[in-house]
Amino acid sequence: MTQWRELPAGLRSPRIRLALTIAGILFLLLVAFSVVVYLLVSREVLQDVEPFRDDPLFVEAAHRQLAAYGMQLVFANIVGVVLIGIASYFVAQAALRPLEQAIALQRQFTNDASHDLRTPLAVIRMETSAALHSRTPMPPDIAECLRIIDEQTQRMDRLIEQLLTLAHVDADSALNREPTDLRHLVSGVVRDLRPLADAKEIALSVARSDPALVLGDELKLSQLVANLVDNAIKYSPNSASVSVSVWQQRDAAFIAVSDTGEGIRAGDRENVFRRFHRVDSVRSPNGRGGHGLGLPLCRWIARAHGGDVFVDSREGEGSTFTVRLPALTA
Ligand SMILES: Nc1ncnc2c1ncn2[C@@H]1O[C@H](COP(=O)(O)OP(=O)(O)OP(=O)(O)O)[C@@H](O)[C@H]1O
Ligand SMILES: [Mg+2]
Repeated sequence: MTQWRELPAGLRSPRIRLALTIAGILFLLLVAFSVVVYLLVSREVLQDVEPFRDDPLFVEAAHRQLAAYGMQLVFANIVGVVLIGIASYFVAQAALRPLEQAIALQRQFTNDASHDLRTPLAVIRMETSAALHSRTPMPPDIAECLRIIDEQTQRMDRLIEQLLTLAHVDADSALNREPTDLRHLVSGVVRDLRPLADAKEIALSVARSDPALVLGDELKLSQLVANLVDNAIKYSPNSASVSVSVWQQRDAAFIAVSDTGEGIRAGDRENVFRRFHRVDSVRSPNGRGGHGLGLPLCRWIARAHGGDVFVDSREGEGSTFTVRLPALTA
């Protein structure tokens, strides 16, 4: 089935899609109506000519008259199609305007609220970290409280960052594209996330690092790879291994993140790319509780670059997330 995202950009706009749907329905009604009219008229004409059916002149005149009616109907249909097209566009515009305004307001609110939440949260994190690292001895229960506050503020910080990115994503904000070497990008992400892997004694490695050049938004692509590596670490038990590979094959560049973690059930494999979908929807208290926004963002970033993300997974054995992007060939 044709996906909307495979259509030219102009046809993907909701307004054009709604206008085309309305126009399509009206056009079908118009054609059905014209066929009925033609059948009724031809029955009338043929009935009128019935007493003279042995006179070829009469019969020929009747057929000429029918052909003229047919042409008039075709002409009326052409005019109808133009009018339907124009009317559908304006109806779609009027119908979607309040919705678009509401969505824009909601996006603005998410954006503003996320920005405003960042500052107090940064202060809380700074103060908690200062207290946790202070030399003054403190009772273990207070230290535990501070550790929990620190962990939860980190989660909130991540959620805010994801909400901000989503607000930009929904606004279809442009990518800042430039020639990007995926090898360097991946090694940067792996370096940044190594402490996370070390904390779980997970062996994080770059298994393959071939040259692969794309025209991409380096920041967003780093976010994509970081989300995948973060998941691979988060959903693998201690001492598992996570490996990242980069390579290019003809006009496509690939990044694959493999883990030997818990894997994903077959029925959940496509759902994990839906917003706010989490396989174990219960918020786990062990710090794994995310918000189900990482993979939808990954998919959006890959698709915005003309590529996609796929998952291959075996329950209990591990998963491989593969990103395919159009390569920048010489
Ligand atoms: N490598 C993986 N192995 C096993 N399950 C995974 C893996 N990656 C993702 N999942 C499953 O897919 C779900 C969705 O992942 P996603 O990254 O979108 O959200 P999250 O990690 O729960 O939260 P967030 O990324 O927003 O902090 C996860 O809750 C997890 O159940
Ligand atoms: Mg995640």
